[in-house]
Formats: sequence, C-alpha cells, structure tokens
Amino acid sequence: MPNIVVVGTQWGDEGKGKVVDVLAPHVNVVVRYQGGNNAGHTVVVGREKYVLHSIPSGILHPGCRCVIGCGVVVDPGSLIEEMESLVQRGVVLDGNLFISKNAHLIMPYHPALDRASEAKLGPRRIGTTGKGVGPAYVDRAARVGIRMADLLDERLFREKLEYNVAQKNRLLREIYDAQTFNVDEILHPYLRYAGWLAPYVTDTALLLHKWIDSGYSVLFEGAQGTMLDIDHGTYPFITSSSTTAGGAATGTGVPPKKIHGALGVAKAYTTRVGGGPLPTEMTGRVAEEIRARGKEYGATTGRPRRCGWADAVVLRYAVRVNGLDTVALTKLDVLDQSETVKICVAYRYQGDLLTDFPGEETVLSGVEPVYEELSGWMAPTSRAKNEADLPAKARQYLERLQELIGAPFCMISTGPQRDETILCEDSPLLRWFPSVRSSLL
Ligand code: IMP
Repeated sequence: MPNIVVVGTQWGDEGKGKVVDVLAPHVNVVVRYQGGNNAGHTVVVGREKYVLHSIPSGILHPGCRCVIGCGVVVDPGSLIEEMESLVQRGVVLDGNLFISKNAHLIMPYHPALDRASEAKLGPRRIGTTGKGVGPAYVDRAARVGIRMADLLDERLFREKLEYNVAQKNRLLREIYDAQTFNVDEILHPYLRYAGWLAPYVTDTALLLHKWIDSGYSVLFEGAQGTMLDIDHGTYPFITSSSTTAGGAATGTGVPPKKIHGALGVAKAYTTRVGGGPLPTEMTGRVAEEIRARGKEYGATTGRPRRCGWADAVVLRYAVRVNGLDTVALTKLDVLDQSETVKICVAYRYQGDLLTDFPGEETVLSGVEPVYEELSGWMAPTSRAKNEADLPAKARQYLERLQELIGAPFCMISTGPQRDETILCEDSPLLRWFPSVRSSLL
C-alpha cells in the first residue's frame, strides 16, 4: 500500500486540507510531521466548516487513524480545545488520535518570546502567527525543549520547567523588556493537560512502523509550504520547520525508503501571509478582487493574504526539492472572472534571465517577474466533472502551467466542497489510490 507525502508548493494555504480530506478515505493513517498550531487547514463538509490546527484533517473520516508526529510542536492547551470542539461535533478521537511522545511542547513563554522578537525586528519582522512555533523549535535545537513524554513525568517536567522559566525570564526581562513568568502559573495547568493528553501519547514511530509492515497506507500531511521551509524557503522569512517532503521522514520516524511518492498542492495563483518577497505580487483592484473571490484571509490569524499570479519558477522549484510526482491544483474557480490571467515563467535580475529559483535574499527582493499573458475564460468552472467540461481557455491555462512546472496535474479543485473536484486521467494519484475515482463520482 502506498505511503504518500502531501506538501504545499507555495507559501502555505494552498488547500492541502481539502486534498487530504479527499484522499483520507483511501488510506488507513494520516500523519502530521512538522509545524504546530500556526497551521490552519480548512475542510468544508456539506454545510459544516472545520478549521484544524494541529490535528490531521483525516480525523473527519471515521476509521482513519491520525498521528501527530515527533516533528510537530504542540501547544497542549490549544490542542485540547481543538479536541473538545471535534468531540462536541461527534468526532471520535479515542483509538483514532495518537500523539508522539517525542513531540516538543509549546510553552507559554514561547508565544511571548515570538511576539517580543518580532517587535524587536522592526521592519525586518517575519510576520509570524505569534503562536510561539519558532521559539519552541529554538529550544528543540538548543536541547532544552520539553517533550510530551516529559510532561507525563511530573518530577522531570518540573525540573525542566524551572530551568526554562529562569532562562526565558532573563531573556524576556533583559533583552526584550517584556513580562516574565513564574513556574507555578505554568505547572498547574500543564499538569492538568498531562492528565487529558496521557491516553493519546505513545511511541508513534513504532506504531507507524508496525502499521506499515501490516500493509496500512499512510498519508503524510505537510503544513505551510515549500517556500516557508527552514532550509529551502525564502530564509529568513520562513517558518522554523522542514515543510518539504524530506521532513516527512525525520518528523515521523518512517524511513525514506518506505515513502513511495510526493503530491504537491498548488493554488491556481499565489498567496503569502507575513513579510518577505513575493515576486508575482498583485496590487490594487486586481489583488482586492482575487482576495475577495478567494476569501484570502488567514485561517489561524484572520490576516488578509497577499495575492500574486501563478509563479512557475516557484512551482518548478517545489517540484524539484520535493521530488513531486504530481500536483493538485486548487481554487481554479477564483480566476473564473479574470479577463487576463498571467503566469510568471522566469525572473529578470539586473539584466539576467533567471529560470531557476534564486535563494539569495537580495536577489529575490530585486527580481522582476517575466509574464506570459493568457486570455481569461470568463465562465464558471465549478460544475465541471472532468477536464473536458472546463472552458477551452481554462484548459489552455492548465496545460501551459503543467508544461512549465514539469509535473502532471492529478486533481483540479474548483470549489471548497468535496464534489467540486476534477480527477485528471493517467495521473500517479489514480495509480496510488484507484478507488478515489469511484468515491468522487
Ligand atoms: P510562524 O510559523 O508563526 O513562525 O510564522 C513564520 C511565517 O510562516 C510567517 O510568514 C507566517 O505567516 C507563515 N506561516 C506560518 N504558518 C502558516 C500557514 O499555515 N499558512 C501560511 N503561512 C504560514
């Protein structure tokens, strides 16, 4: 049974939640491998809308087991809130949700440090979600982080907490001039969280190993996107985890040779929240129209997203660093009313034409996009059941984009509902999961 990674190809918010939701009934397990509650995966089921932050989107399918892997940083208070709201809506967590004992905790001082650091950076601030994700990963790398297993060991938890509170208080007071914390105000709520979470905490790497050996199929659900990856993204305007396909192995303990393929999710245009370069950024009325039609506001922070045209330089790069076998294209319908649609095919920098994505901050902030302009289709796409039903000009747009990025499309999403999805013939997706076809009919 295939084990497949689903990753964002742009700056996050590509619609991975919907793609995972469509695929979840065809796998046995969905696992998150990085990020934290900075993510916001929106899934629409009929009239119900679910926004998931730390729990994999597979949880909405009875029988699909969901794992929060060791590469994820967990804010226990926020996770418990998310769990309670799912339980209230009838979702069964017991026996379906498993949390890695090695996942690191987001502690109350992490969001405080996140906000204080952003304030200090001034114009070079990253525009983080303020959830403390970056500082939690700092502690992990500095080897002072507190893990799920530590939370369940009261003596060790207290010892690590005392060390961290003393250290963070010095930072907060002396570097950032910000409010400090005391051990007891953290200890008591966290020990309550421990009682709540204990039944779900386990050795998920071992569990995944056993499941895979017994023939289970696993979907690795990436959060954020390739361009926010700590190594491959637009550093320093990135998140602090490995969002790309490689992160799926380290963030779960499943060896690379047991991961059989990678599916990228790309929006038919581009969006970004927070600071940093966005070469194809739109301005004025065009940007406002796309933002309104695409409801481009952050699922976690509500911030308006910056919008841009499709960027084939970015998408080609994502195909390369993730080894994408195929791409699911989302939100095609948002372009339905655009008279002209543009695709960036290269960048111009100081007279040179760049066709490969440049990593350097100075180059990237100085590039000019080179566009190909196509005339828009000016017709609705959301009722199309297959590619042939799409307006001819929409098909031309898809064909050109596919050609430029170098990977075949497997799925075209034309609306938030599960049935607003077109499956592309001869795609790797249908080879991996042939039953997807009948479930979308
Ligand atoms: P952090 O992950 O909160 O540290 O934020 C770092 C950068 O990643 C900021 O530009 C955020 O806007 C961006 N970011 C984090 N999570 C998401 C997400 O789920 N979607 C889109 N952008 C995100």
